[in-house]
Amino acid sequence: MKVLVATEKPFAAVAVDGIREVIEGAGYELELLEKYSSKADLLAAVADADGLIIRSDVVDKEVLDAAKQLKIVVRAGAGYDNVDLKEATAHNVVVENTPGQNSNAVAELVFGMAVMAARNMYNGTSGTELKDKAIGIHAFGQVGRNVARIAKGFGMEVSALDPYCPDEVIVEAGVKPVHDLKQLYRDNKIVSLHIPATDETRRSVGYDLVTLMPKNGILVNTARKEVIDEPGLIKALEERPDLKYVADIKPDAADEMSEKFAGRVFFTPKKMGAQTAEANINAGIAAARQTVAYLRDGIDKFKVNK
Ligand code: 3PG
Repeated sequence: MKVLVATEKPFAAVAVDGIREVIEGAGYELELLEKYSSKADLLAAVADADGLIIRSDVVDKEVLDAAKQLKIVVRAGAGYDNVDLKEATAHNVVVENTPGQNSNAVAELVFGMAVMAARNMYNGTSGTELKDKAIGIHAFGQVGRNVARIAKGFGMEVSALDPYCPDEVIVEAGVKPVHDLKQLYRDNKIVSLHIPATDETRRSVGYDLVTLMPKNGILVNTARKEVIDEPGLIKALEERPDLKYVADIKPDAADEMSEKFAGRVFFTPKKMGAQTAEANINAGIAAARQTVAYLRDGIDKFKVNK
């Protein structure tokens, strides 16, 4: 049996070594397709793969059609909006993610970017500190929980909104639960987005919410670009020159925003939240173990498709 690791944005070499150890240790063959530049390369490589490990690589009908022997796709990471779940189910392919494995890395980047924005992108002028400021965590999943833990170390006031997470979990983490989305934006100088990209959340954060933010508000997006209503955000930034937007994902309107809002916006050139050796090792090895567990023993604990 063959397991293909297809990563347009490669794992750290040390993580690849760990993945190899798990896959080859189980007696399977490992094929590595890194930094591929065309979908055709992926289609060719996946043709005889029994298992597939990916990151944000797109697995759609075309890929699944080409993958005649495929039994499982593991997204080494949290968000699986890059995989067509319906098509996977129709092709009899199990889809899994590796929840929590890269969440600390993403949470640390939230603060890397929040400090940068609070210090005026390090332009030499006086900025502000995070201590005693209020941070609102929009969705209290694995990343949101790590953000809360780190925020407390900064001495921040922490609140969170998550309709899918019981209040007790939020309270137990020492965080104030918020139930009104508008209140989350109104009350917090920093809002950090951790909602997945779903039909419910796409383009859900825009003008109406962002303009509620207090003076000198900072919106931090390490989630997905799709959750932002970009025309709405642009309008908000035009009307409110005090607001800043920092994101680990280049918006579609990155050029326009960088030009119009120089010094108030920052975008990583590639998604960098999970790009640490630790996160690569954690997520990559978890993905390899889950792949083996399914191929060898039929265990599908982290299955996300029906
Ligand atoms: C995730 O959903 O796990 C993160 O967005 C990381 O994505 P990446 O593996 O493409 O860096």
